[in-house]
Amino acid sequence: MSFQVTVQPSGRQFQVNDEETLLQAALREGIGLPYGCRSGACGSCKGKVLEGRVDYGDYQASALSEEDKAQGKALFCCARPIGDVVIEAREVSGFADMQIKKLPCRVEAIERPNHDVVVLKLKLPANEKFEFMAGQYIDFLLKDGKRRSFSLANSPHDAALLELHIRHYPGGNFSGFVFNELKERSILRFEGPLGAFVLREDSENRSFSWQVPRVLHPSRA
Ligand code: FES
Repeated sequence: MSFQVTVQPSGRQFQVNDEETLLQAALREGIGLPYGCRSGACGSCKGKVLEGRVDYGDYQASALSEEDKAQGKALFCCARPIGDVVIEAREVSGFADMQIKKLPCRVEAIERPNHDVVVLKLKLPANEKFEFMAGQYIDFLLKDGKRRSFSLANSPHDAALLELHIRHYPGGNFSGFVFNELKERSILRFEGPLGAFVLREDSENRSFSWQVPRVLHPSRA
């Protein structure tokens, strides 16, 4: 079963399938709703449900209070509609045109500019064109189903190799793995590009266009 979503004030419409959140469906349709963590923690995707009802999903109370809910607000990264809905949300142009993909990558180089930072350079499959905007990030997809988010550090115009700067956090499973076990030529999997905090290339003052999500800096992982 699918439901229709109308976004106000733009009036754009899209369908949401059973297994999708409002945000997932919007991004699939190229509608740029703002977001950050995509896990109900940061509040970047908060918007208003003007008509209809939603299942709020799993979220952190710090991101959506009872007062928010009483005012009709929901986190669109977690919320699933129960019937057709009309929502109110700001739309962000640009990043929604970037196709989000799940891809393998090969570790081309591991550089250590200082004692607690590693620069990872990742090579994509030869037939893959990976487009992103400055300010976006990728999620590494780990074998246990967890994800680790890191900002892309290279220019979108020079995407032959993706570059990530990973800080070592004592006790962090993933950064510990990167520092102590990961070898060049290893294969990793990731999803991206993600994030609505992007540099607008067409902007005269080249300002960033959205609020800072928690993944601007590498995850404490
Ligand atoms: S709470 Fe939805 S993107 Fe962070």
